[in-house]
Amino acid sequence: MSPSVSVNAQSPSGWSPESWQTRPAVQQPQYPDAARLAEALDQLRHLPPLVTSWEVETLKQHLARAQDGDGFILQGGDCAESFADCRPEIITNRLKVLLQMSLVLVHGLRSRVVRIGRFAGQYAKPRSADTETRDGLTLPSYRGDLVNAPEFTAAARIPDPRRLLEGHARSAMTINFVRGLIDGGFADLHHPEYWDLDWVQHSPLAADYQAMVDALGDSVRFMETLAGQPIGEFSRVEFFTSHEALLLWYEQAQTRQVPRKPGWYNLSTHFPWIGMRTAEIGGAHVEYCRGIRNPMGVKVSPSMTVDWVLGLCRVLNPDNEPGRLTLIHRMGADKVGDHLPRLIEAVRDAGHRVLWICDPMHGNTISTPNGLKTRPFDRILSEVEQSFAIHKACGSRLGGVHLELTGEDVTECTGGARNLAHADLERAYRSSVDPRLNYEQALELAMKIVRVAG
Ligand code: PEP
Ligand code: CO
Repeated sequence: MSPSVSVNAQSPSGWSPESWQTRPAVQQPQYPDAARLAEALDQLRHLPPLVTSWEVETLKQHLARAQDGDGFILQGGDCAESFADCRPEIITNRLKVLLQMSLVLVHGLRSRVVRIGRFAGQYAKPRSADTETRDGLTLPSYRGDLVNAPEFTAAARIPDPRRLLEGHARSAMTINFVRGLIDGGFADLHHPEYWDLDWVQHSPLAADYQAMVDALGDSVRFMETLAGQPIGEFSRVEFFTSHEALLLWYEQAQTRQVPRKPGWYNLSTHFPWIGMRTAEIGGAHVEYCRGIRNPMGVKVSPSMTVDWVLGLCRVLNPDNEPGRLTLIHRMGADKVGDHLPRLIEAVRDAGHRVLWICDPMHGNTISTPNGLKTRPFDRILSEVEQSFAIHKACGSRLGGVHLELTGEDVTECTGGARNLAHADLERAYRSSVDPRLNYEQALELAMKIVRVAG
């Protein structure tokens, strides 16, 4: 089948994997050597995909069910993955915390939970300025490991196309390891003790968590006694991947057609999302995303008008396909009450079927007197609580959360069960971009969500 035939037959009018190049593309690096970029992209185009179209379609079905009230989305991971953190213990710990949170949510909400990691490709970051100046020296900003390196030297900051191949390789290693763990029984509900992190026993939340795990184990055994056989597949979990569809050269090179299915898929991830800084309707990112078959998210910020959000729904999901579009609102605890209700009502009145989820991280970032970026746990929790209440009052439903978290014992967000203060942050502040919930804070948030939503 020649690509031009199927573009015309199966894709939205005027769209092709490269049609984004005719639109203004913000947040893209300037590669100094076009020939080397072309060479890297050519290699990338021929490498095996990271995910499959049937997994992508399965996720779309899960999201469609969640839109209808069946299921809760847990999307979480680092703000920015780094190549150096592509290590088994870091990947395992991140998986553990997501599994534990999902267990808390399944148990407390009595609902299916759809797990989407912000990993295996979350390597490109939008920046507020193209350049950074220190002591009179101006260099390109660090845009994530897929583009350049964080060190403040000219050599490190030059966008290097070989990083596109490195990013693909590390994403493949990450997803391969996650699949291996899950297929090997790591996520088996009979053995939640596999997911324990060393320092859990000492956590103020340990007793609550253990009681819940025990209750869950009892339920699994009860079901098996009743059925007279192991519940097999039901005790396994699924994991999906996501990343911000930011670096469009990379996304385009992984946009593929597959046998016996119409259209084009982005096979670098199951669930790409469009970030706040790249959500212009006439822009390159919306153009690229409108033509792929994946389910996708769009960040919704307090500065978005009703017309803008409705325009995004029309362009990204013209056929109102179930599961296709998730609106991820990230307003901030002090703004969500003013801005969210009008958007929920307008989207509903216009008849758009969307899934709403809340990112309570990006609207609640502040700087400490020492210049560290942090997020107070109370503000994060408050935005989640308010979001549940607002959706309910508007006759809508909050269908999930989008979080920045890590399985490591970092000190980046303040508050939580151990009540971290500004002075504690320097002990283990490791993020090179946004502050993440540490393991305990993430688990505590899951427990609190159950209380508000359960
Ligand atoms: C992010 O998710 O890391 C991010 C940059 O978010 P936003 O686009 O909502 O600011
Ligand atoms: Co972030």
